[in-house]
Order: sequence, then structure tokens, then C-alpha cells
Amino acid sequence: MNAKEKAIGVFDSGLGGISVLRDLKRFMPHEHYLYYGDSSFAPYGEKTREEITKRCEEICAFFIHQGVKAIVIACNTATSACVKELREEYPNLPIIGMEPAVKVAVDGKENQNVLVMATRFTLKEKKFENLLSRYSKQHVIYRQPCPELVELVEHDELDQQDKVENTLREYFSHYDMDEIDSIVLGCTHFIFFKETIRKLCGDRIQIVDGNAGTIRHVKELLAEKNELCDDTKQGSIQIFNSSKDPYYKTLSQKLLESTLGL
Ligand code: DGL
Repeated sequence: MNAKEKAIGVFDSGLGGISVLRDLKRFMPHEHYLYYGDSSFAPYGEKTREEITKRCEEICAFFIHQGVKAIVIACNTATSACVKELREEYPNLPIIGMEPAVKVAVDGKENQNVLVMATRFTLKEKKFENLLSRYSKQHVIYRQPCPELVELVEHDELDQQDKVENTLREYFSHYDMDEIDSIVLGCTHFIFFKETIRKLCGDRIQIVDGNAGTIRHVKELLAEKNELCDDTKQGSIQIFNSSKDPYYKTLSQKLLESTLGL
């Protein structure tokens, strides 16, 4: 098969990566996408590096078998656990990972107070420490693990507004929110909460995420290899999930069509 026609594999611990797939589809509508949600093993944020790495290796082997031209790790947690190992294993394949967009939050500014919302795993990893060491002299960076937000997405509870707001309020209650300049959504599940966070925090606080930067990077890498699909072609999306329960495919489709966080 012509390399241009091959699919792009996108995966996450569950359904958070659908927020990335949704952006990819809007930005590059002519591409073919395979999405793998590892919902039967979510949340990755509460697992060990070894456990996460094993799952990611299996998912990538599945994508390779399907003949993908690139893999997007639509998961900050999986990226911090094993992007290096996956790149070593597949040196000829573009593998695009994600990390909390702290750089975007502080870009061109001084003395910022930044609240990073992510998984426990992402926030305690060396990769995040390295990222922080670049910014923590000039800025104050707070880290807030938010495991309940992952559950709300996986359990299809995004429309339970009271529950969503109470969960977010509880996280924010640990900070003086008047002092916070930016919130970084360092987990792809959290994109779906953007409007509610805006409602609770007001317009003064900047809310940033890594989705836009990631999809631009995917396009650049494919363009460099001359492997972008022709824009005369019709794109497609195929959804896979490690859970056999059809609920996950239905929910994936619902989130793909949702405008939450756009
Ligand atoms: N969506 C994932 C991320 O971006 C992790 C959620 C989880 O499984 O804990 O980090």
C-alpha cells in the first residue's frame, strides 16, 4: 500500500485520547485513523511504569500489525512511562507523545503561578521533574493529581454537572485560585472539562492543553516524510477498545461527536 494511504494509530488508556482524535480529524480530515482505547486497564495514572509499558507495547504491536504510518500516544501518562522505549523499538516510525503544556502556559511571561492538573503517575515522573526544572526558578508550578476526572469520563458522567463541578471545586479548594495565572490540562481526559473549569474559574485564568501542539507536530512529521494523505481522499476512523463491552465503543463515538472542550 502507498505509504500516504496508511492509517495513523492513536491510543490512550481509555477515552481521553478521543479529544486528540477529534482535533486530528478536524485538522487533517483526509487521513485514516485507528483509535485504541485501553479502557479495561484504565486508569494508567494509578499503575506502575512496568504495567503501563507492557500495555503500550502490546497496543503498538497491534498498530504495527495493522500497518500504520505513525503512532500518536494521546496520553501524557503513557508518554512519560515509555515513549523512549517505544521509539527505540520502532526507530523508523514517527511516534508522537504528549506532555503537560507548561511551556505554553508561561511563554513570554514572568513570575507565573501555574496549576498543572494531570495524573499521579505523570506528576511524579522524572520526565515531569525535568520539565519543571526548566521553569521552576522563574515560576511557581503546583501539581494536582485528578484521578476522579478520568473516572467521570470513563463512566459517561460528563453531563452530571453537579458532580463534575463538585469534583473540580474540591481540587481547586487546595489553592488560592485568585493567585493562579494558568491551568494546564496535562491529561487528555481533562479536555472535556474545559467549559466547566472556565465557568468555575472565570476568564482571567488561562487554560492550556497540549492538543493543538501535538496535532501540528503530527502533520509536520508526516509532511517531512511526504506521507500526508492526498486531500482529494475521504478519511476514516476505526475504533478499537480492550474492553469487549460495546458500551465503550458507543461512548467513544459520543465523545468524538461531542463539542465539549473544543
Ligand atoms: N488520558 C491519560 C493522560 O493523558 C491518562 C488517564 C489515566 O488513565 O489515568 O495522562
